Amino acid sequence: MPGRQLADKWLKTKALLAEPAVAGHIPQTRLYGTDHLRAMLHRFGMVVIKPVRGGGGHGVIKVEWNGRVYSLTKGTSKAAYGSFGALYAALNRAKVKRRYIIQQGIHLARISGRPIDYRVKVVKEGDGWVYRSMVGRLARPGLFVTNLCKGGRQMTAREGLGRCFRRRTAVLKRREMRGMTNTCVRVMEHTFPGIGELGFDYGVDVYGKIWIFEVNTRPQ
Ligand SMILES: Nc1ncnc2c1ncn2[C@@H]1O[C@H](COP(=O)(O)OP(=O)(O)O)[C@@H](O)[C@H]1O
Ligand SMILES: [Mg+2]
Repeated sequence: MPGRQLADKWLKTKALLAEPAVAGHIPQTRLYGTDHLRAMLHRFGMVVIKPVRGGGGHGVIKVEWNGRVYSLTKGTSKAAYGSFGALYAALNRAKVKRRYIIQQGIHLARISGRPIDYRVKVVKEGDGWVYRSMVGRLARPGLFVTNLCKGGRQMTAREGLGRCFRRRTAVLKRREMRGMTNTCVRVMEHTFPGIGELGFDYGVDVYGKIWIFEVNTRPQ
């Protein structure tokens, strides 16, 4: 039994933000709009825009500002713009008519230039939750999204972390991800009673900080 499902990324992000133990690990997230986009882009230099009800990396767009030029990356294509207005117009053409969120962009640790992130899957069995898998997903060359359906390559989390960090750090990060998962499961179950499986997408940035990108209630 898969249990209750929730597609709304904004709703799930807000639930986790209410838990102080993990709030600091969630990239700043806002509903899409011109004011939020301008402010976040100028603050973080990189933001990611994604459909509130999305999946598989579809429609995920990266926007950057380097102090001089704005750029927009969708799939393997990247375009540059000289003004915020031009960028915003291009973005509205690239988007479809759906609700989007804007998220602080995370500079993921990479392997041979390719970003990697992690999927932790847990399922409810009886009264408790059990770990099903913990894998790394390495982005297909040229892409910033790691989703397997976009050509990402799967490996064990141990191998992925081991190739990004020193041994001690890699062991620590795995442990930390498990601890965060335990906390998040508790919050999710309390907020959304009836859920039966969860898949957490974790990023680990170049400094080794763990970030929660999203929670799936119907993980593949
Ligand atoms: N804030 C972010 N910073 C950097 N990369 C991100 C960010 N959010 C998402 N990504 C990349 O895009 C992928 C897809 O985003 P995600 O939030 O998991 O949505 P989806 O439901 O499409 O899988 C992630 O696995 C990650 O590789
Ligand atoms: Mg995902």
